[in-house]
Amino acid sequence: MSVHPVIVAPSVLACDFGRLHEEIRRADAAGADWLHLDVMDGHFVDNISFGPAFVEAAAKVAKAPIDVHLMIDHPDHYFPRFIKNASNITVHVEAGHDVAKTLAQIREAGCACGLALRPATPFESAVPFLDQIDLLLVMTVEPGFGGQPFMQEMMPKVKAAADARQQLGLKYRIEVDGGIGEKTAAISVAHGADTLVAGTSVFGAPDMADAIRKVRGH
Ligand code: DX5
Ligand code: ZN
Repeated sequence: MSVHPVIVAPSVLACDFGRLHEEIRRADAAGADWLHLDVMDGHFVDNISFGPAFVEAAAKVAKAPIDVHLMIDHPDHYFPRFIKNASNITVHVEAGHDVAKTLAQIREAGCACGLALRPATPFESAVPFLDQIDLLLVMTVEPGFGGQPFMQEMMPKVKAAADARQQLGLKYRIEVDGGIGEKTAAISVAHGADTLVAGTSVFGAPDMADAIRKVRGH
């Protein structure tokens, strides 16, 4: 079912911002495949995290590709500010923009593009865009905060994404984000996820390399 090797993207939201460079070097050394950066604006979600300057600071030392997740209104207006420091930029389907146009512009600017779905958003909302994305992000918590419990009820959505990918002969990655640790990663992969965002379970672990291996499954 999977067309991609399983990879782990530690979520920088869970690190000690006061030691950002050290934390990023630690994640790189521990085997992070990508680094996930959650941009929040206090409107689209009820939290404010960081913006382009912080992503630039992270990118300055990161070896792993930067996976930017925009939990913001007007992603079409703001995404250009992340282009030079990102490998992937993911926008929400619910964010009130011309989704197809934003995705095309992200690709034209040289980044891979992703589309994210809140827990309440059905898989069907992503269907018109499946042939235009590199990544589909299925939120497994309500977006806004790290450290929340995994919503297993999102697994049919992950499975629907994997089934559609196979039926349509597409190659997008399927990313899960929120409450991912060793057990919930295995559940997600069993349903078709191949890209695992993990914040608390990785940055909070005594041995980050071991935590990343456990999330990845090897
Ligand atoms: C939640 C963010 C997640 C968050 C995951 O809104 O999108 O990326 O950092 O954190 P954990 O792994 O702690 O649930
Ligand atoms: Zn995220």
